[in-house]
Amino acid sequence: MLRVDLVFVGFGNVARRFVRLLEVRRADLARRGIEWRVVAAATRRHGTAANSEGLDAVRLAEAVEAGWSLHGFDADRVGSASGVQLIERLAERRTEARELVVLETTVLDIAAGQPATDHVRAALRSGAHVITANKGPVAFAFSELESLARTAGRQFLYEGAVMDGIPIFNLVRETLPSVQIQGLRGVLNSTTNFVLTAMERGREFGESLAEMQAAGIAEADASLDVDGWDAAAKTAALANVLLDARITPQEVERTGIGHLTGEGVRAAAAAGRRVKLVSRAVRRDGRVTARVAPEELPQDDLLATLRDQQNALVFETDLLGDLSMVQLGGGLTQTAYALLSDLVTLARTVRRSEGVRP
Ligand SMILES: NC(=O)c1ccc[n+]([C@@H]2O[C@H](COP(=O)([O-])OP(=O)(O)OC[C@H]3O[C@@H](n4cnc5c(N)ncnc54)[C@H](OP(=O)(O)O)[C@@H]3O)[C@@H](O)[C@H]2O)c1
Repeated sequence: MLRVDLVFVGFGNVARRFVRLLEVRRADLARRGIEWRVVAAATRRHGTAANSEGLDAVRLAEAVEAGWSLHGFDADRVGSASGVQLIERLAERRTEARELVVLETTVLDIAAGQPATDHVRAALRSGAHVITANKGPVAFAFSELESLARTAGRQFLYEGAVMDGIPIFNLVRETLPSVQIQGLRGVLNSTTNFVLTAMERGREFGESLAEMQAAGIAEADASLDVDGWDAAAKTAALANVLLDARITPQEVERTGIGHLTGEGVRAAAAAGRRVKLVSRAVRRDGRVTARVAPEELPQDDLLATLRDQQNALVFETDLLGDLSMVQLGGGLTQTAYALLSDLVTLARTVRRSEGVRP
């Protein structure tokens, strides 16, 4: 049995859905040889709590949802420790009997991927594994963090960073040995796809964007979606992991959808083409270029068929031609599942490295 202590840095929508999923799947995880408990949770405005004997994670989630502070659960008196301080403190009392796993789910910072990247770095340096749904660390510092994890013999997993629970990184890592990814293209941002589809149907840009905000699907700052920043961060993350690009979102050539009009989108549709915000990255002659921009696609292109919040990614490979993953429905449960699948991957890898049959 692998015993894990989970430390949450960020305890928002994704983390709270994840702890509920963990409870529902407790018996299943035990059958897979994983016994877990939550030992700490840090937030920005709701306080921080740690208890080395284990916390009741669902009660923590309910407290945050009721608008309370987590301080009342703070048996270990970590007080107002920052994410990095909390990680370092918990790592100091780490024992061989239990693996320490940091779940990084703070908000995306598009300027530099911080403080998430510092959280991941601190965790790996102090002997913890990391699972994240935050695009920031992978989009800004993938090669450094990956090499840090390898040197430290720890796991750095990030399946939820792009397309929620769709197993993009797992697919490539686990099932495509020796296949080279040469390029990729996709529709990766749900909000802009929803707005563009709504405009084709005659709805106003602002009205459909407001609907995505009300549903909690658009970023709190919707300009991150509209200006293509979220798609650029996902493109950089994919290019870094799959094409060894070593780029940041700022190096992705980027045009958003803010200048598009309903008339323009409908005129394209009348001419048999559909406007999509397309992410592309390609490796040519050893160099990777990446861009995000609206494109008019022929209606029979797979990406043109995506409606509303649907996403898809097409990989260009050397041995299998083009492969595609389509996400027909995404959201919090799917992202929580990405974290859960990373936990199972982590346990499997740790056991393999210990020479125990998975
Ligand atoms: N929502 C989705 O469907 C989805 C899908 C894929 C990936 N993601 C990614 O997953 C991450 C989490 O998303 P979410 O929807 O759960 O966001 P959220 O609900 O806004 O939660 C963010 C959490 O991070 C905390 N936080 C922010 N800055 C912090 C800091 N410096 N130190 C400690 N805690 C900090 C917040 O605390 P306070 O609440 O106290 O401010 C909150 O608990 C984001 O990076 C997002 O891009 C989300």
